[in-house]
Amino acid sequence: MLSESIEKQLNHQVQLEGQSSNVYLAMASWAENAGYEGVASFMYRHSDEERMHMLKLIKFINERGGKACVPALEEPNNQYNDLQDVFQSLLEHEQHVTNEINGLVHMSLNEKDYTTHNFLQWYVSEQLEEEALARTILDKLKIIGNDSGSGLYLFDRDILNISADTANDIAAG
Ligand code: FEO
Repeated sequence: MLSESIEKQLNHQVQLEGQSSNVYLAMASWAENAGYEGVASFMYRHSDEERMHMLKLIKFINERGGKACVPALEEPNNQYNDLQDVFQSLLEHEQHVTNEINGLVHMSLNEKDYTTHNFLQWYVSEQLEEEALARTILDKLKIIGNDSGSGLYLFDRDILNISADTANDIAAG
């Protein structure tokens, strides 16, 4: 059975993952309108993944005898200056999510809720991967520079491979 405080915090995380899904959906739409099809498809997929993170939490809360609540979401930012702005915002958003996950991990240990602690390990690894991926992409964008049309064209074409390769690198340690 979940304690009231952990149930509340897990529900807060449900809201955050749902919000993340919305944030990346807005980024996908911005990228699609700006002509970056590769980035748009990357962000649409990322948005789906965040929804999956939210579902996983909802099911866990209910399985443990708690009550998962489907939250209201805020309107995400729909306007970005350029791709640097998009991926910098993504990194900052993920850093915030990581802090929240770490807070939950800390809480579960304090309360000796080892089942929740174990469940959260998946999120800990996921956050590590997402932050590493965002940093890799930002590094590439810095090399290209924002005014290089052909560089950004190639970046947009290659972003799906960047994400697959980085995930593989991380998995390989
Ligand atoms: Fe589910 Fe990107 O945090």
